[in-house]
Amino acid sequence: MTLFDVYPRWQIVPVKAEGCKIYDKEGNEYLDFYGGHAVISIGHSHPKYVAKITEQLNMIGFYSNSVAIPLQEEYAAKLGKASGYPDYSLFLVNSGAEANENALKLASFYNNRKKVLAFHGSFHGRTALAIRVTDIPRYRAPINDCPEVDFFRLNDIPGVKKALRTGEYSSVIVEGILGIGGIVIPQPEFLQELSKICNETDTVLILDEIQSGYGRSGKFFAHQYADIKPDIISIAKGMGNGFPISGILIAPKFKAVHGQLGTTFGGNYLACAAAIAVIETMEEEKLIENAARTGAYLMSELKKLPRIKEVRGLGLMIGIELNEPIKPLRDKLLFEEKVFTGATGTHVFRLLPPLCITKETADEFLIRFNKILQS
Ligand SMILES: Cc1ncc(COP(=O)(O)O)c(C=O)c1O
Repeated sequence: MTLFDVYPRWQIVPVKAEGCKIYDKEGNEYLDFYGGHAVISIGHSHPKYVAKITEQLNMIGFYSNSVAIPLQEEYAAKLGKASGYPDYSLFLVNSGAEANENALKLASFYNNRKKVLAFHGSFHGRTALAIRVTDIPRYRAPINDCPEVDFFRLNDIPGVKKALRTGEYSSVIVEGILGIGGIVIPQPEFLQELSKICNETDTVLILDEIQSGYGRSGKFFAHQYADIKPDIISIAKGMGNGFPISGILIAPKFKAVHGQLGTTFGGNYLACAAAIAVIETMEEEKLIENAARTGAYLMSELKKLPRIKEVRGLGLMIGIELNEPIKPLRDKLLFEEKVFTGATGTHVFRLLPPLCITKETADEFLIRFNKILQS
């Protein structure tokens, strides 16, 4: 059997990783400023993380959600405290798209509406049809019958207000920082107005913090810079430092109904063990503070380099826009300077390093990045 070839891949075979470094099978060492797409939070192969998952696997690795799994409650309590949402409840699933599916669905169950308002440049995942082909009506929220979505310009306060005042929208979904959209931060006043109009019209505000959340922005959630409280927050990526786990944080106004949401693998023992190790390590090693500090340092130093049109972002979610297509430079950075980076569109480098990078690692990156810009 061959693999279904949907990914353009670099011909590099990583065999080992530690902290912010990756090693390939030829023994080359790379700096990881991509984090496997914003997934690596506490660093590769963190000893506490490895120990916790190994220990759990030696006890019990899986059983379904038909039994009590105290690790889920332990994790929820830790997450509530660390994120500033102790009064919210948690539903655990496995991927970012699945978290958003459940957020949109819960919103629709809540207000019995179907329409969703989303934004140009957004990315929220790739699923949608499974429930449409499932013949169990009570599992289907109104939105699943025929999803209707209208796209608006980000920060368009008058347009969004006018639309939401119709009372037709079930939810609004917006990223804390638009990732694929080019590292674009929604204006704080926009998020505040959005939160207000959602409350007034009983529309559910969903913040997709899958990429921008979990400390990456220098606060637990990027939307906390705007001082708002969304109704539902979706999380994934950094949550498990590579172990697949995701979830939604749900405001107290939502009532849980048995059977409305469900999953086989969500919240399994190993995923919870991984997530607990991550959240404890983030606190013990003060990684959110590190993301804020090292991210601000990187951004200020990047602004001094040549060929750069704009540097934007928060914490360790940084976009570097050039006046030219970045592909040749990104390849050079990877193959000659041995640095992994992300990209968005044709002109923007996307930096998403592990949250544990030190100033020394940041300086090393700046030297190598400057070298390719000077070439
Ligand atoms: C903001 C955002 N939402 C949702 C997703 C989808 O997550 P997944 O690929 O785990 O389904 C991503 C993935 O990149 C993302 O960045």
